[in-house]
Amino acid sequence: MNAPTPHPTIVVGASRGLRRAIAVALAEDAGPVVAVARDQARLADLAAATPGVVPERADAADPEAATRLLRTYDPRTVVLVAGATPTMAPLQHQTWVTFSANWHADVQIAFHWIRAALARPLPPGSRVIVISSGAALAGSPLSGGYAGAKATQRFLAGYAQEEASRAELDLASTTVFPRPSPMTDVGRAAVQAYSARDGLSEEAYVHRLGGVLTPAIAGRALVELRAADTTDLSPGYLLTGDGLKPMG
Ligand SMILES: NC(=O)c1ccc[n+]([C@@H]2O[C@H](COP(=O)([O-])OP(=O)(O)OC[C@H]3O[C@@H](n4cnc5c(N)ncnc54)[C@H](OP(=O)(O)O)[C@@H]3O)[C@@H](O)[C@H]2O)c1
Repeated sequence: MNAPTPHPTIVVGASRGLRRAIAVALAEDAGPVVAVARDQARLADLAAATPGVVPERADAADPEAATRLLRTYDPRTVVLVAGATPTMAPLQHQTWVTFSANWHADVQIAFHWIRAALARPLPPGSRVIVISSGAALAGSPLSGGYAGAKATQRFLAGYAQEEASRAELDLASTTVFPRPSPMTDVGRAAVQAYSARDGLSEEAYVHRLGGVLTPAIAGRALVELRAADTTDLSPGYLLTGDGLKPMG
């Protein structure tokens, strides 16, 4: 008799950057991993390079997509990493369009997927892991509305945890706050902008943030969070070059 297929993990926004490393690490640890993104070519490349990855081309900001994909795959873990690349510029050089981009992407995606996970609801033992940003903890004056959007993602995960507890669902939601990784396009832009503003070398700036967060460290962190018992998960985790650090 064949072994039963394990319930898949859905990684929303999986085709490049930290997100791709997260999808690969989760698939290599235990597949299948359903990788959701909009760019067909990059998704196909990820799936071809990584056994266990199932490509799903969809706009994660479409509420129908969240409901449909949760119904189709019945996952036990949903990792929300999708979002827009912030425009790095001080406030006076932002427009409302650049300032609000992460609200339309990161916040809207978190809202639709967390809401759909609760409404379904995902079965006992499931978890939703939201990738926010260290910027959510202290602000980020060079990236417009990015820090506020990432802070709102944390609120959404907290509200979901509260609703799940009130309904006595064994459904956990937690938020991860990564420091910028100079090994990704998004993180490199932040490191360059803030090190220049603070008059530091990029190395000194990254050292001050807790060392280089590599995509591999981010991948291992997500494997750890997927394997943890839901009752052991903290509401949030700082993610640096030293790995995960639980926050109260
Ligand atoms: N990189 C860092 O140093 C760093 C630091 C702190 C926090 N973070 C956070 O960590 C997460 C990952 O960062 P990253 O560097 O991997 O970002 P990235 O390189 O900009 O990757 C963006 C990903 O999101 C997907 N995406 C965007 N909008 C989407 C939509 N509407 N529907 C489906 N997929 C969508 C993109 O795929 P398509 O374009 O193909 O759809 C792509 O896979 C982000 O939330 C970021 O804010 C990153």
